[in-house]
Amino acid sequence: MKRTLGVCYYPEQWPESQWEDDARRMAEIGLTWVRIGEFAWSRIEPEPGRFDWDWLDRAIATLGRHGLRVVLGTPTATPPIWVLEKLPDMLAVDEFGRSRGFGSRRHYDFSHQGYRQESARIVTAVAQRYGRNPHIGAWQTDNEYACHDTVLSYSPAALKGFRDWLASKYQSPQALNRAWGNVFWSMEYSSFDQVGLPNLTVTEANPAHWMDFRRYSSDMVVEFNRIQTEILRKYSDAPIAHNYMGKITEFDHFAVGADLEIASWDAYPLGHLAVFGTSDAVKRDYVRQGDPDFQAFHHDLYRAVGAMRPRRSAAQGRWWVMEQQPGPVNWAPYNPDPLPGMARLWAWEAFAHGAEAVCYFRWRQAPFAQEQMHAGLLRPDDKPAPAYAEAAQVACELAEMPEQGTTRAKVALVFDYASAWAWKVQPQGKGFDYVALALHLYRGLRLLGLSVDILPPDADDLSGYRLVLAPGVATLSDPLKAAMARFDGHILLGPRTNSKTPDFATPVPLPPAIPGLDAVIARVESLPPEVTVPVDGGGSFSIWREKLETAAKVVIDGSDGFPALVQSEAIHYLAGWPDDVLRDRVLAHVSQLAGLPTTALPEGLRCRETETHRFWFNYGAQPVAFQGMTIPAAGVHWEKL
Ligand code: GAL
Repeated sequence: MKRTLGVCYYPEQWPESQWEDDARRMAEIGLTWVRIGEFAWSRIEPEPGRFDWDWLDRAIATLGRHGLRVVLGTPTATPPIWVLEKLPDMLAVDEFGRSRGFGSRRHYDFSHQGYRQESARIVTAVAQRYGRNPHIGAWQTDNEYACHDTVLSYSPAALKGFRDWLASKYQSPQALNRAWGNVFWSMEYSSFDQVGLPNLTVTEANPAHWMDFRRYSSDMVVEFNRIQTEILRKYSDAPIAHNYMGKITEFDHFAVGADLEIASWDAYPLGHLAVFGTSDAVKRDYVRQGDPDFQAFHHDLYRAVGAMRPRRSAAQGRWWVMEQQPGPVNWAPYNPDPLPGMARLWAWEAFAHGAEAVCYFRWRQAPFAQEQMHAGLLRPDDKPAPAYAEAAQVACELAEMPEQGTTRAKVALVFDYASAWAWKVQPQGKGFDYVALALHLYRGLRLLGLSVDILPPDADDLSGYRLVLAPGVATLSDPLKAAMARFDGHILLGPRTNSKTPDFATPVPLPPAIPGLDAVIARVESLPPEVTVPVDGGGSFSIWREKLETAAKVVIDGSDGFPALVQSEAIHYLAGWPDDVLRDRVLAHVSQLAGLPTTALPEGLRCRETETHRFWFNYGAQPVAFQGMTIPAAGVHWEKL
């Protein structure tokens, strides 16, 4: 596979006299891709129906003349003010019933039929104009669905759409009442028109109501995106991507991925660390490098999302980093400068996980508006910022590196967006965050030197893996259950795996109800941060503890008289949220049983294998010596396998 670099560029924000030189320099440092257009609606169509294509024609031609390939964004994340004047009720409404406003971006409601038509109109116009343009190498739909908390909307459009969606799902109000358990608190309906949205209820709404509202809202993103992909495919053969966001679970990325050839995500390691960092120590020690596992987790996730169209092995997905942090960003509570070397390390790490392309955001720092404090490859005065030389270095290194494919890992972790909704709707304990649980176990696997594939929740083929994990998956899908029954490797489940029915009720017989595993979760408890449940041999549970009745083999016992880890043949069940020590013990134990060679890696060091190479990444701020290698701080090292 050929791997390439690119950059995000906004020709409409710079004088035209600068474009030629910009394109020349992009080509000179070895960039291949330039993403443009995704916020340019007000310049493409300054007034309703009056299109101004000339400038965009010339911008694309200028880039093309220098051999650059264009990713053209559909501009629907930033409808101009006149669209809003035409459709005053197109704005999303927040949980408290307040309408969002104009003056930034993403000011639309996915359920609004009028805005869908406006989007279809502008996408058609852009696709007709550029669908066959030889310089367009790919499309991006919209920009970062869900960014700025824009998926769940409590608008009249959402209410109408939700009722229709429920009517088509349940066919009768009685069926809905049964599925949700509406006999509880006299919540029964006799017509779909009586059902409201789950916000602003006196106390919590029925969790089944919330779950359906979340499913509906996710479907609206899928529909909105599909309108665009269907239009683009009419006029163009270029592959279509969307730039997803890390740790965002408000819609099902796999479902959107089924309409896209390429998955991509926007990697801002320092911004993400500041906002999502798992502990004060990680936030301090990696302040200029980012969490050593956060990027890799999302690389593996989006490789799986990129394997949905056509559907194939999760290891083989097509994916990019569409936006790569180049220096300080502007949007986190604190915005430190990356260590020298990180703009190179981040790109190489993405390539080691199979990225086809990494595009830095952005070419030149804008001296105006919201992102004037956000670094680019160039400073506002056009001089190179530090990442400029690092990008050029990566381009040179790529040119020398032989093409190589992604290898299928031996370990797989199931990731399920609906489970993220389930545990947001009903955390039962404040710290129970599904993504954090998945990332916690993923980190443990990486610390053992293992490469990991992430699988969608309906994965139906586990062959080739030695170990599969599905912690916290609220409802195991039928295809996955069937694949697990045929699987000849080891499976690690729990906590909370398979503990809800598809209607979001507690199943009876009680969970986890896994054929071959003689265990019942008789009781669960959630724990405040200051309380832990130690286990025999070291380590403890925090956040969540399950009390099992079981005839399975108890591998680790808890200090509270209940098992911590049980095993029936090759099925293992972990009865709680493990701290680092317990996690590492459990993962080392099951990896060994699964026949996986592991290596405990030193702090800050991570690795990933491709078909031909092993890559080492030192996220530490000091050089690290390991197995005869010395890897500089913020450095990358690779060796042939
Ligand atoms: C992304 C977004 C870009 C830009 C960038 C700044 O979330 O897609 O348009 O705002 O963040 O870091």
